[in-house]
Amino acid sequence: MVLKGKKILIGISGSIAAYKMPLLVRLLMKEGAEVQIIMTPAARDFVTPLTLSTLSKRPVLTGPFNPVDGTWNSHVDMGNWADLMLVAPASATTLGKMANGIADNLLVTTYLAAVCPVFIAPAMDLDMFQHPSTRQNIKTLQSYGNHLIAPREGELASGLCGAGRLEEPEVILEILRDFFKGIQSWAGKKVLITAGPTVEPIDPVRYISNHSSGKMGYALAEEAIKRGADVTLVSGPVSLPAPSGVTLIKVHTAQQMLEACQKVFDASDLLIMAAAVADYRVAAVSDHKIKKQGGAGTPALDLVENPDIVKTLSAHRNDGQYIMGFALETDNELANAQSKLMSKGMDAIALNSLNEQGAGFGTDTNKVTLIHRSGISYTSGLEPKAGIAGRILDFIEETIVNP
Ligand code: C5P
Repeated sequence: MVLKGKKILIGISGSIAAYKMPLLVRLLMKEGAEVQIIMTPAARDFVTPLTLSTLSKRPVLTGPFNPVDGTWNSHVDMGNWADLMLVAPASATTLGKMANGIADNLLVTTYLAAVCPVFIAPAMDLDMFQHPSTRQNIKTLQSYGNHLIAPREGELASGLCGAGRLEEPEVILEILRDFFKGIQSWAGKKVLITAGPTVEPIDPVRYISNHSSGKMGYALAEEAIKRGADVTLVSGPVSLPAPSGVTLIKVHTAQQMLEACQKVFDASDLLIMAAAVADYRVAAVSDHKIKKQGGAGTPALDLVENPDIVKTLSAHRNDGQYIMGFALETDNELANAQSKLMSKGMDAIALNSLNEQGAGFGTDTNKVTLIHRSGISYTSGLEPKAGIAGRILDFIEETIVNP
C-alpha cells in the first residue's frame, strides 16, 4: 500500500471530465491516502463539493477563506502539507493560469506555493488541446518539472473524436502508485529515531526535563516513512500524533530510552538521535511528594549522570550502521559540535543553534548545519521542520558508505 498515509492535494478545474474525480478520490481513500480537494469556481458546475467532501472526508475548498466564518484556507499551508498535487481535470484556462502564474483562484495560488511534485492531467476538446497556446502552456509547465498525465484519444463530450479525454481514474491511480514506488529510496532500511525530551522524576509529581517539543524527530520519522523505511520512533513525552506507519515506543526517562534503543539498535541500519536527553537524573527519587521545609532550609537534590545513549550504542555498532546525532549549542557552536561528533562515535551531527531566530526548541522551523566525520558539511536555510527533515535524509544518502 504505497499510497497509505500519503497526502494528496487534488485541484479540480472546470471540465466535463470532472465527473470522473469522485471515483479517483474513492480509489485513493481506499488505498489509505489523505485527500484534500480544491475546486475552481467553474468546476462546481460539473461535480458537487458535497459528493467530493463526503468521499474525501474533508471540506472541499474553493476560495481563499470560508465565507461563513471567515476561516482562511492557507494555500501556503496546503502547499507544504501535500506529498503530491494532482491537477485533474486541468482545463485550458487552468493550464494557462498555472503556466503564467495568474494566481486568481485558490487552485493556482496553492499550485504556486506547492513544494511537492505536481501531476497535471489535462482534459478538453481536441481542437483546444491541439491549439498552440495549450501546447505551449503544457511545455512550459513540463519545463518547470511538473509531470504530465497526457489525455487519451477517444470520443469527447462534443461528439468529436481525438485526444482530450481525461485519463481513466484507475490509470491515474497506477501512475501515482508507480511514482511513489520510484521514490522509495529507503525501502528495506530499518531506521531508529529518538525524539522529544526525557523526563527524570524528582518525586511522584515533579520532574527534571527540557523544552524539546519532539517536532524535529517526528518530522524525520515521517520523512523516513515517505522514503519507504521501516521506522521505530522512541519518543519521550510530547503532544504530537505518531506519524502513520511508524512503530512508536513511548518512554519517560533516559534509562528507559536507552533500554528501548538497545532492543532495536542491533537490527537497525541507521540511528538518528534527535531526542534531548537529560544529562542528569535525581539519585534517589522520593516516593512521596517532597514537602516545603517551612523555613528550615531548602531541599538539596543529589544528581547522578545519565548514560550517554548514543555513546553507549556507538561503542557496540555493527559494520555499516550509520549514526547521526544532534547538537544544540549556544557558544563555540561548530567546534563543540565537531568534538561531540568524534567523542560520541557518530558519523554525522546536525547542529542547530539557539542563537538563530526560528531555529531550535518548540519552533515549527529550523536551520541546521550538517557535518559528516569526513569533513563534508552542509548548511540549510531556515525552513519548516518537514523540509529540514528532507535535507537531513538527503545528506545521509550522500554520505552513507553502504547505500
Ligand atoms: O552532549 P549533548 O547532549 O549536546 O549531545 C547531543 C547528542 O547526544 C544528541 O544526539 C543526543 O540525543 C545525544 N545524547 C545521548 N545521551 C545523553 C545525552 C545526549 O544520546 N545522555
